This record gives sequence, structure tokens and C-alpha cells, in this order.
Amino acid sequence: MDAFKCIATKLEVREFSTQDISSEIRSKILEAARLTGTGMNTQHWRFILVEKKDNLKKLAEDSTSGSWVAGANFAVIVLTNPKYGFHLIDAGRVLQNMQLTAWNEGVGSGLFTGIREEKIRNDFQIPNELTPSVIIGFGYPVSKLTGKKKNRLPVYELVYYEKYGNSKR
Ligand SMILES: Cc1cc2nc3c(=O)[nH]c(=O)nc-3n(C[C@H](O)[C@H](O)[C@H](O)COP(=O)(O)O)c2cc1C
Repeated sequence: MDAFKCIATKLEVREFSTQDISSEIRSKILEAARLTGTGMNTQHWRFILVEKKDNLKKLAEDSTSGSWVAGANFAVIVLTNPKYGFHLIDAGRVLQNMQLTAWNEGVGSGLFTGIREEKIRNDFQIPNELTPSVIIGFGYPVSKLTGKKKNRLPVYELVYYEKYGNSKR
């Protein structure tokens, strides 16, 4: 799939089938994370791969907005270092690259940011200097996502020309 088509078709997936994801695809998703650029190439991030059912369940319990992750085939906890002012930009870039890599392989994914921080730190032994910024759950979609469409504002409402508020070229 070309990059634009991947972006244009990708939807968040929160219901997953029980079909296993191959280790090749899992590795490719992690490789996409590794290859993503960080601010000043600091590579301050670390990733925890969560595959065991018990731990996916814990992850769901550590969340306020991602209980669906219990049904994922695997999840990735993205840890970033808040001493860098741009760490959440890095988190956003890497999560998107992982999601698009997965989508290109027919694998769905969803993310959540509602995190019970103390609980997740305890459950996954996260060190104090790193922040659990986002969690992404991966799995094959439970059904074809034919009914679902993106709900987005049109370009003319989003883009201004030369100055804020100027909608005409
Ligand atoms: C910064 C950010 C935070 C998000 N947090 C959550 C979340 O906590 N739980 C969740 O289920 N989805 C979360 N999402 C997913 C959004 O709900 C999703 O991107 C949006 O509804 C568009 O979905 P679509 O691409 O399928 O249309 C988050 C997305 C972003 C970009």
C-alpha cells in the first residue's frame, strides 16, 4: 500500500479476532518503532512488548480508556523521557509509524492515553525517569471495517492561507 493510501484508510480498531499475528509482522512493527526519528536523535524511548494474556489483562486494568486492550494479540507500552520537552511529539510519531506498519499488513490497532500511572508503573516495573505516554494494542480486526468511515472536518475548515483565519487563497 502506498503511504497516502495507508493513512487514508487506517481506522482505529478496538475489537480483535483471536487470530495470531506472526512473529515477522510483530518484529516489523517494532522495527518501524526503532527506525523512527526522535528529537535530536536522543532515542530516549523504550518499548515494553506485552503478549501474555494475564499481562494484557493487567494493562486493561491499568487504563481508564483502553479496557479493550485485554482482547489484543499484543500491546506496546511506549515510554518516553519527559526531560525532553518534545517527548510527546516523539511518542506520537512512533505510535503512528507502528500503527501504519501494522495496517499495511492488515493488522488493526488502537491506542489509549488514559493511564493509571502508579498502577502501570508497579505492574510493569517502569523506572521513574520514563513516562508511560501511550499504549497501543494490536490484533486482526474482528470483522471487515467496511461500515466504518472517518469523521473528519473538510480541508477548507482546517487550512488557512498565509495568515490565521484567511480561508481564501
Ligand atoms: C492523542 C490521542 C489520544 C487518544 N486516546 C485514546 C484513548 O485513551 N482511548 C481510545 O480508545 N482511543 C484513543 N484515541 C483514539 C481516537 O479516539 C481516534 O484516533 C479517533 O477517534 C479517530 O479514529 P478513526 O481514525 O478510527 O476515525 C486517541 C487518539 C489520539 C490521537
